[in-house]
Amino acid sequence: MLDRVSEIETRALREIAAAASLEALERLRVALLGRKGELTALLRSLGELPAGERPAAGQRVNEVRARFEQAIASRRAELAGTARQARLSEQALDVTLPGRLHRIGTRHPITQVLDEIKAIFVGMGFEVVEGPEVELYHYNFEALNYPEEHPAMDEQDSFYVTDEILLRTQTSPVQVRVMEQRQPPLRIIAPGRTYRREAVSVRLSHTFHQLEGYEVAQGITFADLKGTLAMFVREFFGPDTQLRFRPDFFPFTEPSADLSITCGLCRGAGCAVCKQSGWLEIAGCGLIHENVLRTCGYDPEQVSGWAFGFGVDRIAMWRFGIDDIRLFWDNDMRFLRQF
Ligand code: DAH
Repeated sequence: MLDRVSEIETRALREIAAAASLEALERLRVALLGRKGELTALLRSLGELPAGERPAAGQRVNEVRARFEQAIASRRAELAGTARQARLSEQALDVTLPGRLHRIGTRHPITQVLDEIKAIFVGMGFEVVEGPEVELYHYNFEALNYPEEHPAMDEQDSFYVTDEILLRTQTSPVQVRVMEQRQPPLRIIAPGRTYRREAVSVRLSHTFHQLEGYEVAQGITFADLKGTLAMFVREFFGPDTQLRFRPDFFPFTEPSADLSITCGLCRGAGCAVCKQSGWLEIAGCGLIHENVLRTCGYDPEQVSGWAFGFGVDRIAMWRFGIDDIRLFWDNDMRFLRQF
């Protein structure tokens, strides 16, 4: 009897220690200690022993039973621990991993400059109007009083879609588009993209931006043009900025002028940006030509107007100290993120 107990003890303890899962362990427990278990059967058979041997055998079997219970409990704890470990490592979260950055874009420097210019003119009572980039020859040239043989109209200088349609070379056609629809008084600015057949270089791009501005009302004179542009320039470039108007020619204005301002970088002393002149040319301007007013159905005896056109890209280049116009189009994040 005692041999049999020892034999079960040795085998069962080995099996308990080796149980691979909680289920296997439970099956072992039932096979040993359950109602029909091996050890339970031994305990029951104690009664068959001679009376003298019973106490010692009973003690031994109970001792083994206690040992089994302990071994099962500790193996169960081990297996449960392993299961929890497995579950934890499955759900593991590496809190030291760097997060995924959601990059927030920045406004393009051209857009920033356009927004700033618009805000100043809107503050002076101007209205923002946009016109089409694919424009009729009629609005881009003809209605703006270009003579029959003007070089700008040449195919070498403009992108034509058909004989009658081209990519607008300036924002000036928006003047005509608004004037033929509406009556004065008008105070309009028209920002947008413009296109010319240029070989791309550090200073020139085939696609660029202009901002047109004009006012039409009774009794408008060159003084209104000067006053409005001086207000704008001092607001945008700083209160000390000087303005210089020089005679120029545009088909749609008479008289015409170009407007320069003192170079903000060298304060007029002369530097690379202003080509040592101390002046930066920012706009063409003038009084709207009588022929243009007439084309739009206005009577030049009754109303007059002034107009200007800015080159926006150049203004943005001065503002941010950018020396190559191509950077605006490269979409290089290292460049764009600086603004
Ligand atoms: N459209 C002209 C250009 O692209 C600029 C310009 C000059 C616009 C005089 C005007 C103006 O409105 O009055 O060169």
